[in-house]
Amino acid sequence: MHKLIHFLKQANNIVFMTGAGISAESGIPTFREAQTGLWEKFKAEELATPQAFEQDPLLVWKWYQWRRQLIAKNKPNPGHLAITKIQNELKHVTLITQNVDGLHQEAGTRDVIEFHGNIRNNKCSYCSHVENNSDNQSDVIPQCPNCEVNLRPAVVWFGESIPESASQQSMQAASQADLFFSVGTSSRVYPAAGLVELARQNKATIVEINPNATPMTSIADYVFAEPASVALQRIIEVLSLPGDLVNTKSNI
Ligand code: OAD
Repeated sequence: MHKLIHFLKQANNIVFMTGAGISAESGIPTFREAQTGLWEKFKAEELATPQAFEQDPLLVWKWYQWRRQLIAKNKPNPGHLAITKIQNELKHVTLITQNVDGLHQEAGTRDVIEFHGNIRNNKCSYCSHVENNSDNQSDVIPQCPNCEVNLRPAVVWFGESIPESASQQSMQAASQADLFFSVGTSSRVYPAAGLVELARQNKATIVEINPNATPMTSIADYVFAEPASVALQRIIEVLSLPGDLVNTKSNI
């Protein structure tokens, strides 16, 4: 652990990439975990594709309204707050998240790169109109003021591209990282999972935080096989040690 803290203090570019696991401790279900994952109970192709929205917009809209209400009831947890603290204390900390829940921003992390969009917003499929949906609990789908078509949740659906600026910023951050944390993601969804590989190719030290092994565990230099809040809080605690202690030679 002290060796990792040394890396953290020396690193010029630190990148965190998070997935649903970091929000699990806030009470928000993940996608692929047995029993509790959303894709265990719901069919992604009926709810999270452009075709699904075309075929049954109300079904898709109601499912997203349900998820939005679930998210609105929950708060950032110590894992989200720890990343904010690390960003405040160290230089050049970039956060890329696959999560659409906005909890990193609520926890105070700055310049969050939203790889899969943000569920709190709606957007038009035809023009650039985006609007906040936080105060809307209605089952009536709002219309685009310009195009007079249904607005949709501003998230990335299966089969869609990652928003251009998020994709470019993430690839740049991953390729420049000297320390890359992969936190609470199954690393099974591309192109997000490819960012870890990109960082690795560019010689970053890789840290994985996840109670369960993933396809990226074997390329990680450090593995914290425990919940995000536990691992990140431990890192925060050790980071607060005086400088002479963090230089001691010890492995994780
Ligand atoms: P997954 O549901 O695929 O994976 C969640 C991961 O979190 C699993 O590997 C768990 O082991 C881990 N986990 C659970 N609790 C944890 C905890 N307390 N601390 C740390 N890790 C924990 O979720 P994602 O990898 O985020 O796409 O899924 C990627 C994308 O697939 C999502 O962004 C979503 C989904 O379809 C879109 O919405 C476009």
